[in-house]
Amino acid sequence: MLLEVRDLQVQFRMREGISRAVNGVSYAVDKGETLAVLGESGSGKSVTAQAVMGILDSPPGRITGGEILFQGENLLTMPEKKRRTVRGAQMAMIFQDALSSLNPVLSVGDQLGEMFVVHRGMSKKDARARAVELMDRVRIPAAKERVRQYPHQFSGGMRQRIMIAMALALEPALIIADEPTTALDVTVQAQVMELLAELQRELRMGLILITHDLGVVADVADRIAVMYAGRIVESAPVHDIYRAPAHPYTKGLLESIPRLDQKGQELYAIKGLPPNLMHIPPGCAFHPRCPRAQEVCVREEPPLHRVSAGRGSACHFWKETLDDAAR
Ligand SMILES: Nc1ncnc2c1ncn2[C@@H]1O[C@H](COP(=O)(O)OP(=O)(O)O)[C@@H](O)[C@H]1O
Ligand code: SF4
Ligand SMILES: [Mg+2]
Repeated sequence: MLLEVRDLQVQFRMREGISRAVNGVSYAVDKGETLAVLGESGSGKSVTAQAVMGILDSPPGRITGGEILFQGENLLTMPEKKRRTVRGAQMAMIFQDALSSLNPVLSVGDQLGEMFVVHRGMSKKDARARAVELMDRVRIPAAKERVRQYPHQFSGGMRQRIMIAMALALEPALIIADEPTTALDVTVQAQVMELLAELQRELRMGLILITHDLGVVADVADRIAVMYAGRIVESAPVHDIYRAPAHPYTKGLLESIPRLDQKGQELYAIKGLPPNLMHIPPGCAFHPRCPRAQEVCVREEPPLHRVSAGRGSACHFWKETLDDAAR
């Protein structure tokens, strides 16, 4: 397995209290595989990714439990120097907002080239040539000319392509893309997502795709992990989830995807809001919003039940939910 996160726990110690952002998350991604991590804003998707990358905002953030195995080695106990090499060369992250991630006063060629100068000891001239190659690879037109331009001279979609190029530069084994298309227009979103998926397949990288949009993952993901209040509530091969969700929260997310055949109709929305992570509801954290909640849900936290091979649901009533969906 390329990456295995086991029972990860992350807390933020704030003046007002402890925010329990990640509460026992386990997931795995293999070479050549795409895992989509899904959930509303504030469910702990980014914090989990930051812990994997070693860029957690700490303090106030702190990893209070669990393991992160990368190619079999626990990153959390690895000496910092070795960890830095892994982070620089073997894993890369793509963020939502390219403009704030890129350096505004360096040309994109210099920024891309720097990766090769610093990590590969290349000459500036060779690094520049590689930068142009990379820009071609992410299909930026007229790369030879545009390599001299600055980030603000590119459109949002083109800037996101540059971010992808930066992430790919050293051919990492793992890429984490955190809402990579959220800031883009819908049509550009699809193009950027397609490009990312294509490069992932071509280079056989592991990809963790974080998104709150179930609509974009159907075509690109192999597996889906759905997060709620810092836990994984459902984890399954992508087709299983689309066929029939085994958790009411997943079902709610699926029903709130805009569909072309329902134009004009009001979109379903899960009632209420995700909980404050300083005060996570007892039992099943989703119970205040769940249409299926029973008394047991308030009292007992559901474990991740095995639904089928490679599939789990943290709901006391996963069977009923699955049966309903299959009907
Ligand atoms: N830098 C931070 N300082 C304090 N709390 C944070 C910080 N980053 C994240 N959190 C807490 O962790 C929760 C989960 O955040 P995040 O992982 O970013 O959610 P998302 O699923 O939207 O990516 C937030 O709602 C917040 O309570
Ligand atoms: S355990 Fe209960 S409250 Fe939680 S998702 Fe299942 S039915 Fe809903
Ligand atoms: Mg996030």
